[in-house]
Amino acid sequence: MKLSLPLIRISLLTVLASGLLAATLPLGAADGDKALLDKAKALFKPLPATSALADSTPQRVALGKALFFETRVSNDGRLGCATCHNPAFYGADALALSVGVNGKVLPRNASTVFNTSLLMAQHYGGNRVSVEDQAVKALLSPLAYGNTSYEQVEKKLQVLGYQSLFDKAFPGEAKPLSADNWGKAIGAYERTLLTPAPFDQFLKGDTQALSPQAKLGLAKFIDTGCAGCHNGVSVGGQMYQKFGITQDYWLATGSTEKEAFKGFDKGRFHDTKNEADAFMFKVPQLRNVAVTPPYFHDGSVATLPQAVRVMAQLQLGKQLPDEDVAHIVSFLESLTGEVPADFAKAPVLPVAPH
Ligand code: HEC
Ligand code: HEC
Repeated sequence: MKLSLPLIRISLLTVLASGLLAATLPLGAADGDKALLDKAKALFKPLPATSALADSTPQRVALGKALFFETRVSNDGRLGCATCHNPAFYGADALALSVGVNGKVLPRNASTVFNTSLLMAQHYGGNRVSVEDQAVKALLSPLAYGNTSYEQVEKKLQVLGYQSLFDKAFPGEAKPLSADNWGKAIGAYERTLLTPAPFDQFLKGDTQALSPQAKLGLAKFIDTGCAGCHNGVSVGGQMYQKFGITQDYWLATGSTEKEAFKGFDKGRFHDTKNEADAFMFKVPQLRNVAVTPPYFHDGSVATLPQAVRVMAQLQLGKQLPDEDVAHIVSFLESLTGEVPADFAKAPVLPVAPH
């Protein structure tokens, strides 16, 4: 039944005026769109409506938001999640390398926190299993919060006036205010930070949601081989791959050796100490990539077209013509969603009881 409609229209063409001919011409484009949509649906998935865990509550999410913006728990009192995952910069910090506690420069570029609850693991080396785990471990990291014990953190939170917020977020628990629940609350908040984009509309069947350039770019992205690594719901974030397959990555990125890694960053190797993991990095998600420069694990590449060229060269051994690069960039722009409203505005934080 579905097929008969275009056929009837085409046969009518022979008898109808040329005005109708023009109206009928986009049929070819529509068929192409449908084929591209089918190809894309086999590789990518639209964002789910929620990634909340079953026990999430509005109280827990609200506490998580407060803790995300809280700076007084860090060792120098100046650093919170939102310092490096800033609403003004799409959940990243726009620096090549983040600046941690006491002004220490971190060896890596801050990834956005949007949609990260959907990734297979957290960090380039995948050394954090979930957003909850990531938030708990950040507390004792000498580079991030710089605390020496979880007891110290719990004491700080009590003094700051957080007890009642934890009581409401974790009712009935023996010890609601704990480092573990800090992680659960922040995780519950991060799980709300999803950013649906035009590409999701496309995947749901609205082929007009992408511009003609973005559609050419999507086709290129698939046919060139990018989607072999950047696929799934986050257009990445689902596997580890070697960075620098055709040559050492720093020859193309200009990356420098890092003291923290006693040389060039070898990715997952630093977490597992397994030689097979040398230079393996978690394939980053590409959602919001157009608005979170600079690029790569050390922010060594400033612009998106250059990052696309470097990828084609290092991962696929290809030199992409400028036109293809521009189309792929248009496609990547269709992965930009809106900053969630509950993230755009900083919360008012508790003051110490007096
Ligand atoms: C000093 C800056 C800084 C602070 C503070 C900070 N982060 Fe990050 N964050 C980074 C950097 C840099 C990375 C990349 C690290 C890596 O991959 O090894 C990162 C990575 C992440 C990731 C992983 C994203 C991905 O794609 O794998 C999550 C999630 C995250 N941070 C959440 C948080 C939360 C929650 C807090 C507060 C508890 C926090 N961060 C505090 C700089 C920071
Ligand atoms: C063999 C797997 C693989 C292929 C193929 C691949 N990538 Fe990547 N891509 C990665 C890995 C791994 C990284 C992370 C590199 C790093 O920073 O350490 C990455 C990073 C990126 C980044 C930077 C993201 C950020 O937030 O900094 C962009 C953009 C990107 N890829 C686009 C592409 C495009 C476009 C193609 C096709 C031309 C492509 N990739 C092909 C594995 C791959």
